[in-house]
Amino acid sequence: MTEPDDHVIVLFGATGDLAKRKLLPGLFHLAVAGLLPDGYRIVGSTPARSAMSEDAFRAHAHDAVATFGRSKPTGPVWESFEESLSFGAADPEDPGPLLAAVRAAEDSLGGRPRRLFHLAVPPSAFGSVIGMLGDTDLAGNAKVIVEKPFGTDLASARVLNDTINAVFDESRVFRIDHFLGKESVDNILALRFANGMFEPNWNRDHIRYVQIDVPETLGLEGRAHFYEGTGAFRDMVVTHLIQVLGIVAMEPPVSLAAQPLRDEKDKVFEALRPIEPGDVVRGQYEGYRDEPGVAPDSTTETFAALRVEVDNWRWAGVPFHLRSGKNLAQGRQVITLGLREPPLRMFPTDLPGQEKNRGNKIVIDFGDPGWIAARFLAKEPGPAMRLAPATMAFGYAGSFCEENGLEGYERLILDAMLGDQSLFTRADGIEHIWAASTPLLDNPPPIQPYAPGSWGPEPAVSELIAPYPWHLPDPAEVLPGTSGTSPAGT
Ligand code: BG6
Repeated sequence: MTEPDDHVIVLFGATGDLAKRKLLPGLFHLAVAGLLPDGYRIVGSTPARSAMSEDAFRAHAHDAVATFGRSKPTGPVWESFEESLSFGAADPEDPGPLLAAVRAAEDSLGGRPRRLFHLAVPPSAFGSVIGMLGDTDLAGNAKVIVEKPFGTDLASARVLNDTINAVFDESRVFRIDHFLGKESVDNILALRFANGMFEPNWNRDHIRYVQIDVPETLGLEGRAHFYEGTGAFRDMVVTHLIQVLGIVAMEPPVSLAAQPLRDEKDKVFEALRPIEPGDVVRGQYEGYRDEPGVAPDSTTETFAALRVEVDNWRWAGVPFHLRSGKNLAQGRQVITLGLREPPLRMFPTDLPGQEKNRGNKIVIDFGDPGWIAARFLAKEPGPAMRLAPATMAFGYAGSFCEENGLEGYERLILDAMLGDQSLFTRADGIEHIWAASTPLLDNPPPIQPYAPGSWGPEPAVSELIAPYPWHLPDPAEVLPGTSGTSPAGT
């Protein structure tokens, strides 16, 4: 594998939740895995009002890695990682400390390292940070990673694209959606396009419905400031779930290079039917309005379920059911493709509970480590021709050497250093998604309350996709020996 050139990585939002949970632990894991370049420096940045000293930033990184990292902060790799960390505050009117920190980091590496800026800041701050990079010489030949959600609607996404492209040309822009970096999401490409077994069935002739279900047990986790202005639709659906939908629904690209892959994915977004308010259920868990930082009359949704359609030759008439929410009964990340029923004329079909098993299903659990299962009918042993549900399953855990596996952010930060945009979202694709979301955003249905630990507002959620059920098999049933659902919601 190619090694990235030497880099100075600047983390905006260095003391925020994302940096703490994912970015600092992820960067350290890349160091442990030997995937960072020989020469690298990481500069943390925040506005001056939350600035910290270099020592405090190193201590902060240590805590973050110790709490959330897979690789623990000890030994020589940690020592050199810690030494690579520095801090430089930046405000649009005073970027001085950041400029000084970046120059010091570059000088310490010698030569001409590349710059990579990661904007782990709320969407409302993207514009001012980009503007500041453009006003100084920091943007130079640098690359920029921009977090989701990218804008809050079509108009703001367009403005943001213009703002970014005024400073960075498109080849240097990496709009990140960390679900696209997950091993098991990437594996959907392998499943579909490296096997002769699935793709011939992967269309409206054989598939009745597709479900992409990402319930979370997690609540707000102290992120009210971000979440109140975002909500489940913008935080999860318009971003992660629809990106996964793009991978599930796309046509085979001519290669996995960035352009053909993104062309095909973006064509799916272009074909999305406008999302009408009647096809959406918005929920809010009881107690949300009492969370610190949440308005007492907040109408931010913490749950969204949708029925969407991809209006193209392959998928016309096949409903895609999407669901995600906070404080739900389980934390799962599951795609189900429900296949059409064969006639089954010669088999008894009136056995209790059999109705729901008649159509085969392909189930992809893309929560780490992930598994794939085909649910089908088999004959029960005995003199009578009785059918019973059966499963063929592949589990990532224990199937391969997992040592080389990377988490979403790790993989994508590495790709950004390498300049590979394949798994990053593109301006036109995002604009198509916002365009399809416009009827819903213009006229959102009222929020409905739901009990924490439930499956969202009932009966609305079940009625939304009737006659289909929400299908969420217990992993322990599919893959005996797995631990069941993830309490952390990951
Ligand atoms: C983030 C959302 O992008 O994804 C969070 O902002 C969500 O609200 C998280 O909890 C889920 O990602 P993962 O990989 O931790 O399951």
